[in-house]
Amino acid sequence: MKDLSKKTRSSIGMPLVGFGTYQLSIEEAEFNVMEALKAGYRHIDSAEGYQNEVGTGRAIKASGFSRDDLFVTTKLFPGNKQWGVPEKTYEQTIETLKKQLKDLQLDYVDLYLIHAPLAELRLEQWSALVALKKLGLAKHIGVSNYDEARIKEILEAGLAKPEANQVEFHPICAQLNLTQYMEEHSIAPIAYSSLAPLSNWRMEEGQGGEVLAEKKQDAQVVIKAIANELGVSEAKLLLRWALQRGYSVLTRSTKPKHIQGNIDVFDFEISASQMNQLDQLDQNQAFAWAANGLNPMEAAPELKSKINL
Ligand SMILES: NC(=O)c1ccc[n+]([C@@H]2O[C@H](COP(=O)([O-])OP(=O)(O)OC[C@H]3O[C@@H](n4cnc5c(N)ncnc54)[C@H](OP(=O)(O)O)[C@@H]3O)[C@@H](O)[C@H]2O)c1
Repeated sequence: MKDLSKKTRSSIGMPLVGFGTYQLSIEEAEFNVMEALKAGYRHIDSAEGYQNEVGTGRAIKASGFSRDDLFVTTKLFPGNKQWGVPEKTYEQTIETLKKQLKDLQLDYVDLYLIHAPLAELRLEQWSALVALKKLGLAKHIGVSNYDEARIKEILEAGLAKPEANQVEFHPICAQLNLTQYMEEHSIAPIAYSSLAPLSNWRMEEGQGGEVLAEKKQDAQVVIKAIANELGVSEAKLLLRWALQRGYSVLTRSTKPKHIQGNIDVFDFEISASQMNQLDQLDQNQAFAWAANGLNPMEAAPELKSKINL
């Protein structure tokens, strides 16, 4: 993506900066999605697992925007036997999106993702997403937290290729091999938790940002120095870094000032030498799921069967 502007869209028509809704109550989702839409966001990222789609739906409805102006993503929670959450079957996957659409007050989503490869039934779930696209309930379908091996499983089963993969992506977790693989296979990359390197990331009670915080300290010095050189906030620097690497980004805040600032990342550029300095910070270290005790990219169980329909 060479030409970066507010109007640029990714290969699947997604506005490059999206507003995320993780760790928001129903009321907070309603209020902050409304704030985001007022601030100019047209791309909202939701999930069954966030348990707040009713609030997101209310904000979208109240905004009065025409459906074509918005890009709405949501995700299937696949189940996770380790957590005692049953895995969803093909039929349950179909029914889940129908219920989510009711909560979101939408006729379709622009992108539907499997949240993570946590289920033995993941190929069966993927077949259901392919059917949901045929039904017109999802314009595009993809995955999240899938590494190269999990994407290959889908391709080797002869099923349709995921159109997008949403993964944790920032200089400390730079996903080098996966990014190249997605580029080679034309899978749109979407970054989540781009702000994880910041010292205040998810530091409110119960948000889990303190886990592994010591692994960020050296990187924070470099990020601060480059942000100062460019005269931008560290948050903007991190979002812009992901955009310049070809990703769409998601960011979430409950502060109007941050919500407004985080979408305003198109009037400066990180130089090649500054990008190189940021590239040195990679530790292949993920943070977003750490408070849940797992790295979703490494948690995939054996497949139960090839495709069991
Ligand atoms: N697929 C997945 O497995 C997955 C996993 C994680 C996230 N996601 C999606 O990606 C979205 C973004 O990830 P995230 O929730 O981790 O959000 P994020 O934007 O990376 O980080 C949010 C944290 O950063 C702070 N923050 C936001 N803007 C800031 C700014 N300008 N300056 C300083 N601090 C700022 C927020 O605090 P304040 O509220 O105080 O601003 C909050 O503590 C999620 O909401 C969700 O939609 C997906």
